[in-house]
Amino acid sequence: MSDNKVYRASTTAPVNIAVVKYWGKRDVELNLPTNSSISVTLSQADLRTLTTASCSASYPDGDSLMLNGELSDVSGARTQACFRELRARRAVLEASNASLPKLSTLPLKIVSENNFPTAAGLASSAAGFAALVQAIANLYELTDSPSELSLIARQGSGSACRSLFGGYVAWRMGNKEDGSDSMADLVAPASHWPNMRALILVASASKKGVSSTSGMQQTVATSGLFQRRITQIVPANMDLMEEAIKAKDFAKFAEVTMRDSNSFHACCADTYPPIFYMNDVSRAAIRAVESINTKAGKPIAAYTFDAGPNCVVYYLEEDAPAVLGGFAGVLGGISGWNENGADVKSGAKLEDGVA
Ligand code: ADP
Ligand code: DP6
Ligand code: CO
Repeated sequence: MSDNKVYRASTTAPVNIAVVKYWGKRDVELNLPTNSSISVTLSQADLRTLTTASCSASYPDGDSLMLNGELSDVSGARTQACFRELRARRAVLEASNASLPKLSTLPLKIVSENNFPTAAGLASSAAGFAALVQAIANLYELTDSPSELSLIARQGSGSACRSLFGGYVAWRMGNKEDGSDSMADLVAPASHWPNMRALILVASASKKGVSSTSGMQQTVATSGLFQRRITQIVPANMDLMEEAIKAKDFAKFAEVTMRDSNSFHACCADTYPPIFYMNDVSRAAIRAVESINTKAGKPIAAYTFDAGPNCVVYYLEEDAPAVLGGFAGVLGGISGWNENGADVKSGAKLEDGVA
């Protein structure tokens, strides 16, 4: 390139919170999971990543990533894999059309911001890498489908492959050695179950002590319970969850969601040395959901916790008074809830279309 023109594209990406959790890698290099998973994509009105990707011959220091206002390392294998794969796809377009500018060889500058706590168990790596991949795909004017882009996002962070879709999304673990069938697909759009809502309880916005990447590798290496989870519990939960979503059966959806979260955290506790992501506030949230459901005589609220203390509660719009009222009563009495920086976002809708 002879000129110093700056090419730029921006996008936002939503968070997704799994109801059948990914936890464990069978191939660390390709970021292939030990089990399939299903998630619900939340509305970008509540939690989202905003990412701008640009490239220019005038960028002197190679590729860079600014995350939440701070320069972040891009030399890690996972970020490098995303850059490499996206550049390769752009290079194919450039080879077939000589009039396209040669963007694939220019340094990339990524500027990204999360409007919610980073590395706190609210899926920042999912929204973050989905936005990174989508922003560069937009910059390069790639025509790849969301499933094809999910193959790339997966290499940045596993959960990110599901944030390329709105609604109810499955990440199929696949069985090919090269990972070419380990990608996300749409189980149902958000409009399929339009009254689904999420309550997000931020018990702590602090960075977690053990990252998801490192925590799951410790679990794979040391937990016996984990073997039962990936061979029996998750395959059964995947089937039940897909049935529940298709039939819009909230009671079944809720039970599988809570059981799967419990099973995942039990495997964390069975890791040696044990990993504890939940805290006293998290356990109070579980008790609040139990009391709401007991009072209702059926499950009308479902808690789930990722690798962090923060709670997401799924419920249906028509049950909002009982669910939100139940939380106001129980959590209001917990000392330290507010001092811990607790924040409650209620009524979050689901995301239907992404980027
Ligand atoms: P979380 O529970 O928030 O997903 P993880 O431990 O899985 O936590 O991942 C956190 C890491 O994800 C961050 O330390 C950072 O490396 C990466 N990440 C988070 N947000 C972004 C973003 N917007 N762009 C690129 N990478 C991000
Ligand atoms: C508990 O996708 O963050 O949130 O692939 O190493 O980046 P890496 O891990 P990540 O793990 C997510 C774990 C989870 C469950 C889930 O989202 O399915
Ligand atoms: Co993550």
